Amino acid sequence: PGRAHRDADGRLVIGGVPATDLAARFGTPLYVVDEADARARAARILAAFEAAAASVGTTVTVYYAGKAFLSGAIVRWVTEAGLSVDVCTGGELAVALAAGADPARIGFHGNNKSVAEIERAVGAGVGAIIIDSEVEVERVADAAARAGRVQRVRLRVNSGVHASTHEFLATAHEDQKFGVSLDRAVEIGTRIRSHPSLDLLGLHCHIGSQIFDSAGFAESAERLLTAHAELARVAPLPELNLGGGFGIAYTSADDPTPIEEIALGIAEAVASGCRDRGVPVPKLAFEPGRSIIGPAGVTLYTVGTVKPVPLDGGTWRHYVSVDGGMSDNARTALYGADYTVRLAGRVSDEPPALVRVAGKHCESGDIVVDADYLPHDVAPGDLVAVAATGAYCWSLANNYNHVPRPPVVAVRDGEARVIVHGETEADLLARDAGLEASAGLEGT
Ligand code: LLP
Repeated sequence: PGRAHRDADGRLVIGGVPATDLAARFGTPLYVVDEADARARAARILAAFEAAAASVGTTVTVYYAGKAFLSGAIVRWVTEAGLSVDVCTGGELAVALAAGADPARIGFHGNNKSVAEIERAVGAGVGAIIIDSEVEVERVADAAARAGRVQRVRLRVNSGVHASTHEFLATAHEDQKFGVSLDRAVEIGTRIRSHPSLDLLGLHCHIGSQIFDSAGFAESAERLLTAHAELARVAPLPELNLGGGFGIAYTSADDPTPIEEIALGIAEAVASGCRDRGVPVPKLAFEPGRSIIGPAGVTLYTVGTVKPVPLDGGTWRHYVSVDGGMSDNARTALYGADYTVRLAGRVSDEPPALVRVAGKHCESGDIVVDADYLPHDVAPGDLVAVAATGAYCWSLANNYNHVPRPPVVAVRDGEARVIVHGETEADLLARDAGLEASAGLEGT
């Protein structure tokens, strides 16, 4: 997985640290993030978009989408790589600010920001607030006016293009909660411009996640550019933000187009759309999350039970149950996501067995890896690694069945350090107000 390799003893080594050492020191389940890999991905994506933008005579801002996985260390890695930070709640904003991100390089999203969140963002001096609905125009304008500021904003537009992995769907109206409809973008953009406390940077859209090529982005850009051009003819509209969504490989069946090619495809689509409409090519902006942090993460688990289950046709599926599950990786249960699993503590010459990696939670949908192969002798006590869990795993983690969330460890050059502490059972019990007076807990 990622940049991991095996040592002479067949142990998986991540960031120079054997997985068995990590498990012994920090326990399992354990989120492991390869710091050098995450930093390198951030730098590569920024370089790809900068080169693509330059090729059409413009510039670009790349925001790291914090929803994929936000922590103090990660904010520092991506900002040191030259990225800006995209947040979508007051909580994410607080992390980005506490980690020292430059407020002017933070974008603030959300389809239902509270007035308090808007006030915090304005007060902190965030570089842009993404207006997601009509009512938010006045909410943001009023907050900025009260603070005596001019707030830069983008307007999120629903382009009608919905994309995921290999295909995109283009409809007249996308049936979802984000953004304003394309046919009202000019009217609402004009209304934003009528507020002296707002400064309209440009239009924004985000068409989906885990997208493998540039076609959906190009289609969405082409649609947005009509509204963009109409607004740009009235007053300068410096920017166009096309969101995030660049796909990664979760299994060997996934083959995303290299980001350099995707970036060029998008930049060329924007440039030709602008040429056709006789408007200058705007500055571009993107918001990748998964493609930066996803492949850099691995989750380590310890196998507890192995249960062969006969399938029709005389074959078997081995249910390999591990010590975590849908509380540390909800993606398989939520989206039917695919993952890859490998033995992490040893290699084996045994033939492969079809396995389903299940968790320890009390429901049958608690699957981490739906279908992959492990050596036939996989057994209780084996350490296994699930690849590409850096994005939307820790950030979607939960305490179902009162399972504490695991720690996150960053590995680099043979060193490991905790970047997010794990929870303990005591942490969970401490929040339970109904237990506070319980004599039964005394001394625990
Ligand atoms: N910008 C906006 C406005 C977004 O809504 C998102 C993701 C991104 C950027 C970053 O997209 P990325 O580059 O990470 O694909 N929980 C789901 C994914 C939800 C994505 C939500 N928005 C999953 O685990 O697959």
